[in-house]
Amino acid sequence: MTIKIAVIPGDGIGPEVTNEALKVLEAVAGVCDFKYELTNFDFGGERYLRTGEVLPDSAIEELKRFDVIYLGAIGHPDVQPGILEKGILLKIRFELDQYINLRPIKLYPNVYTPLRDKGPEHIDLVIVRENTEGLYLGSGGNIRKGTSQEVAIQEMVNTRFGVERCIRYAFELTSERNKDKKLTLCDKANVLTFAHGLWSRAFEEVGKEYSDIKQDHAYVDATTMWMVKNPEWFDVIVTCNMFGDIIADLGAMIQGGMGIAASGNLNPGPDGVSMFEPIHGSAPKYKGQNKINPLAAIGAMAMLLKDEDQMEASRRIENAITRALSERHIKDLSAGGDLSTTQIGDLIARLAVENKN
Ligand code: IPM
Ligand code: MN
Repeated sequence: MTIKIAVIPGDGIGPEVTNEALKVLEAVAGVCDFKYELTNFDFGGERYLRTGEVLPDSAIEELKRFDVIYLGAIGHPDVQPGILEKGILLKIRFELDQYINLRPIKLYPNVYTPLRDKGPEHIDLVIVRENTEGLYLGSGGNIRKGTSQEVAIQEMVNTRFGVERCIRYAFELTSERNKDKKLTLCDKANVLTFAHGLWSRAFEEVGKEYSDIKQDHAYVDATTMWMVKNPEWFDVIVTCNMFGDIIADLGAMIQGGMGIAASGNLNPGPDGVSMFEPIHGSAPKYKGQNKINPLAAIGAMAMLLKDEDQMEASRRIENAITRALSERHIKDLSAGGDLSTTQIGDLIARLAVENKN
């Protein structure tokens, strides 16, 4: 079987980090003996500025025919905020019903965390963020816009169906992960009593089917506190779209920053098309300089391969990243660190092929 991958390199440093992820893909495909086919799409700021087109509906139909999507980074300094985010990223998430946003938060050896006294043994959790509803749905509007009487309404939409499938996914993941077997619901049910009342009830009801999973609850404000103070308390966290967005960036910081944080937008259904991306942005000021560390993009490729059931290939990449850091081949994850973008790609590709632990 050939894995059909749609590639959207995007803007800024997106194409550079994508190249390295594809380099690593080619290397592991060679040793793991699977085939793939890449189709490139040039959606992003450049194309928008050139043609006025963001992501046409025909492209959505086309993307649905792939097995999976790989995305570099979207965002352009000359494009007003919101256009590309909503027009490309959120449109794909919604139209392809990628209802899970998966954010593994794992501190690799020798990676700097701002949390004093915490190491890889403390920071290893996964955030399961609902990805199609909540405050992101775009329900609402402005009345008397631009006047002193302006009204702005942005509704938080939660459906039992949407909430339940997300919670169910999180329970399954907690079970499969088999780490602490603990799932924490992060919400604000003490204030958002309607919306998060629904989350609490769904969590409790679905939870009855998972008696072997410890079921915990934390309000979102307290969650940010515990993630800093005691990240080891968390195994899997399930939360709504908006809170997931916020706590995932906190998570990225405690795992060493944007240079290492990868994510997946999943449609777990049998014919679902998921999308994988590094969580960093397009960092336009580093564009074309071969300075950005591509580990987050490479990590997203490892996630993609796992999703496509290429476990061995995925593990090889994960092990290569771990080894590159633990053996200090890479000492600095920041832009302009000790190795260039292409050198890091070469290194990970080589270590993934060698596959020594
Ligand atoms: C993310 C990003 C997006 C989000 C933006 C770019 C729309 O911050 O993937 O977390 O808010 O979901
Ligand atoms: Mn975000």
